[in-house]
Amino acid sequence: MVLHVVYDQFGYLKPQAVDEAAEVVSMPPIDFHQAASFYTFFPRQKVGRYHIQVCRTLSCYLRGSEELVEYLIEKLNIKMGGVTEDGLFSITEVECLGSCGTGPMMQINDTYYEKLSRAKVDNILEELRKKAKSG
Ligand code: FES
Repeated sequence: MVLHVVYDQFGYLKPQAVDEAAEVVSMPPIDFHQAASFYTFFPRQKVGRYHIQVCRTLSCYLRGSEELVEYLIEKLNIKMGGVTEDGLFSITEVECLGSCGTGPMMQINDTYYEKLSRAKVDNILEELRKKAKSG
């Protein structure tokens, strides 16, 4: 719960905020940092407005997640774990997101995008760019 609070506040697990949160609940900060390193869905560095998390686990891998990641990296012109220059997108690979029958899939912020293709990815990114421009 504490990690969720920090994540919701900053959009990632800012180390200093995790330390302060641990102090508030009278627990050793190391406990929270260890938990944070276990859960890949908590970014531990600053992420883009739209944080793309591509599942790389077996079902999605067999359905093309690796090619999907390569495509996203090329299209967004960023490195794995990086953030686009405009701060709009960041990308990481994560373990199973529990939607194994609909791979390849990715999560962007709180939304799942499933049965992905290059065309679907193009549409999703375009919609998010439009959304960002409008507010
Ligand atoms: S293997 Fe990708 S969601 Fe489970």
